[in-house]
Amino acid sequence: MEITLTAIKADIGSIGGHLAPSKAILNRVKETIGAEKSNLILDHFIGHTGDDIAILLVHDRGEGSEAVHRLAWDAFQAGTAVAKEQGLYGAGQDLLKDAFSGNVRGLGPAVAEMSFTERENEPFLLFTADKTEPGAYNLPLYLAFADPMYNPGLLLSPTVGKGFTFTVMDVSHTEGDRVIELSTPEEAYDLAALLRDNGRFVVESIHSRADGEQAASCCTTRLRNIAGKYVGKDDPIMLVRTQKTFPATGEVLAPFEIGHLVAGFMRGSHTGPLMPVKEGTGVSFFDGPPIVSCLAFSLHNGKLTEPVDAFDHPYWDWVRDNIARKAHDIRAQGFSGPAMLPYADLEYGGITERMGKLAERFHCR
Ligand code: F6R
Ligand code: MG
Ligand code: MG
Repeated sequence: MEITLTAIKADIGSIGGHLAPSKAILNRVKETIGAEKSNLILDHFIGHTGDDIAILLVHDRGEGSEAVHRLAWDAFQAGTAVAKEQGLYGAGQDLLKDAFSGNVRGLGPAVAEMSFTERENEPFLLFTADKTEPGAYNLPLYLAFADPMYNPGLLLSPTVGKGFTFTVMDVSHTEGDRVIELSTPEEAYDLAALLRDNGRFVVESIHSRADGEQAASCCTTRLRNIAGKYVGKDDPIMLVRTQKTFPATGEVLAPFEIGHLVAGFMRGSHTGPLMPVKEGTGVSFFDGPPIVSCLAFSLHNGKLTEPVDAFDHPYWDWVRDNIARKAHDIRAQGFSGPAMLPYADLEYGGITERMGKLAERFHCR
């Protein structure tokens, strides 16, 4: 049976600023999805990371299914109604259009989807991040799928060692989907040349070269391109199948110990290290730091096991301590240089106005 995993994520309101959704809106989203369960979908999971709620739906209706997307949209709308009743901050923030039009892509929520014939054992990972952008996954994916320093399977497993094909999207191109396919190991340097630019080039999917199967699907949503102005960072969601012809789960997780510096953090306008956290973690210091959580599932006959929280382990406590120090270090330099993002990536337009006024006062001696 061909199964589709549809993962959709949105910020529909949170308590005390942009910190975490309320139990009431999470419950309303769960109730809305749960009510439909037997008719439309095979299984589901709902959780949150920072101020974003993630909905994972398992079904057999294929990618972009109108009915499945409508269900997620309706659940977010129902949650938004509760957020408004409760007076939550940013109620309905990521639902940028008033009406559903067949697919949640282009309406605000982040989407990652993948269809495949279920393997006898089907382990996969659901990544959800907050206070950052889709390109935040570029480096961990490159290291997990193309670098033997992080993925010894590239040396040790004959199938993993055949390499992977990356589909990369130019997210600055708004007239359509501008994509390129690059295969590793042969084109690893070309791939790195693109992936260094997290704000522009984003990994959309990865396929095994051993069997052509899809290993990863990442969201490429840019809220700015939808709203016509900057309305927040895009808080990305990602699905990764693991083991056998794909990297091992631990190989996919390993690069997250770097806590690499990404765009996001306070006012979506700063640079901060990406901290791997337990699912359900909110946001705090300087509206951050940028966080990522990872739930591991097994799928069998369209049913999910309970998730294992991949970053809930003593090793990751040590990693978090190190990354907190890294966050502290870059915060110590405030607005200076690389601590704050370049103009084009700032979430707020205020500085552009300020610069405009100052430009009038500049004079050439
Ligand atoms: C960034 C974010 C927060 C807000 C900040 C100010 O994406 O969610 O850092 O930018 O809390 O929010 P406003 O402008 O809504 O007061
Ligand atoms: Mg928010
Ligand atoms: Mg968010």
